[in-house]
Amino acid sequence: MKKTVIVSSPGKLIIGGEHAVVYGRRALVTSIGMRLYMQLTEEDKQDYESTKQLLNIVFHDTNKHYSINLLDSHDSYSLEIQAILYIYNHFKSFLSDKNQLNIQVRSEIPIGAGLGSSAAFSVCLVGCFYLLCYKKLNQEDINQLAYKVECLFHGTPSGIDNTISTYGQSLVYSRTLKKHLDFRLSNLAIIDTGIPKSTKRMVDLVRVFVENNQIEGEKILNDIEICVDTMIEHPEQINQLFQRNQQLLKCLGVSIPEIDSIIQTLAEKNISAQITGAGGGGCLIALTSSFTKDEILDLLKDHHIKSIQFVECGVEGLREEQTFVS
Ligand code: PMV
Repeated sequence: MKKTVIVSSPGKLIIGGEHAVVYGRRALVTSIGMRLYMQLTEEDKQDYESTKQLLNIVFHDTNKHYSINLLDSHDSYSLEIQAILYIYNHFKSFLSDKNQLNIQVRSEIPIGAGLGSSAAFSVCLVGCFYLLCYKKLNQEDINQLAYKVECLFHGTPSGIDNTISTYGQSLVYSRTLKKHLDFRLSNLAIIDTGIPKSTKRMVDLVRVFVENNQIEGEKILNDIEICVDTMIEHPEQINQLFQRNQQLLKCLGVSIPEIDSIIQTLAEKNISAQITGAGGGGCLIALTSSFTKDEILDLLKDHHIKSIQFVECGVEGLREEQTFVS
């Protein structure tokens, strides 16, 4: 007998409030039309060997294959595998120890660019096991457990990434608030600087800044929250608010000269752009209705950016799929 479940969940863009959200402030976040797909199959092993209980994992994007004996697991695995084992252990009382598990992953979300790839992975992982064991998806339970997986990846994140990947649409999010919004931006371009970034390093850098400059730090965090509230109340001011949010993030120390220079080049053509996510590299978002992708690429030809993509925002969160395309 073979049981298969397939789910997908989206990546995200933080429109405003990154970093401040770590300190309990409100942030504005939207899901994007790039998804991660995961398939989990539980099957009877015909040639089952009693000394082996296998978990096979295939990451199609990187062409990595793992075969893990669940009776002999150790902690030198990569974070993704540790996350899978953590969730397997959570659900194992529902699973037969005579069966083999196969997981396949395919993602449209670039890794390590601040677009929520790890959260989409965490949400899909929990979603797959939940669906296999309970035959339905419960967003609240899945989101809570996906947060624990995110803690394996990132320490103590704010929870914004797993929440938007689970629920989809757009949200005003804080550690105590999760409110759906009808907030959509058309003509939103993601500019991947191609500069590697570390969320943990940026969060640590902001922590040191806020600890050493308490009054100024608190003021910047409050100003970021005001900027977020204004984005929601006055979406017609979004261009100026992108510029304001970027200035505030720069004051927190998470911009870098390469990013400042890209933003300056775009500003000269009246394109408002800002960091999205942790900063220090990764992706920027820009608003433009007058420039095509190729025209922006041309404008930024001296900046060695990795890619530009216009994306849909405010899409569906975690959902069950009927097919898995590898
Ligand atoms: O990992 P990123 O680039 O999506 O950034 C996450 C957003 C932060 O506010 C910097 C951290 C957090 O936990 O919210």
